[in-house]
Amino acid sequence: MTVPHRAQAPAWLQVDAILTRLSGRQALKEVCRFLAESFPHYPWVGVYRLDGTTLVLDAWEGPQATEHTRIPVERGICGQAAREGRTVIVDDVRSDPNYLACFLETRAEIVVPILVEGRVVGEIDIDGNSVKAFDGSDRRFLEGVAAKLGPVVERSGGELPTA
Ligand code: SME
Repeated sequence: MTVPHRAQAPAWLQVDAILTRLSGRQALKEVCRFLAESFPHYPWVGVYRLDGTTLVLDAWEGPQATEHTRIPVERGICGQAAREGRTVIVDDVRSDPNYLACFLETRAEIVVPILVEGRVVGEIDIDGNSVKAFDGSDRRFLEGVAAKLGPVVERSGGELPTA
């Protein structure tokens, strides 16, 4: 249990508060920042938007930028979660041949699709620095966050690209 049950509801309320205050990519960036700051086992948090058959990184928070700002859906753990429309948890990225490496520190990954009316519009991607960093509590918590982000991600595609 890495996201205690008692922490989930207050965190969802914080996400609601962010989405009331901000919109578009600014809101997504703030949600990434909130998650990374609140949960030490979420060192790098990103939100990808599905644009046709490409995942485009709309917002992220963490110590370093990733080179994977555009990922074709046929590639990576990110692509797998988008294709299958379900959460993918990889306990040890070094033993997953699908894994697209970003950071030397990363040992585990969770990718949670963001759905609108059953369609994948994007995903939350979190890289963890220890093997088995994520469990069912992360899945439940992040699926709750993802449910709130659907309309924001859908609309952020119409924004001008950020510098
Ligand atoms: N590791 C991901 C690529 C994105 S980075 O983690 C930010 C993957 O395998 O799809």
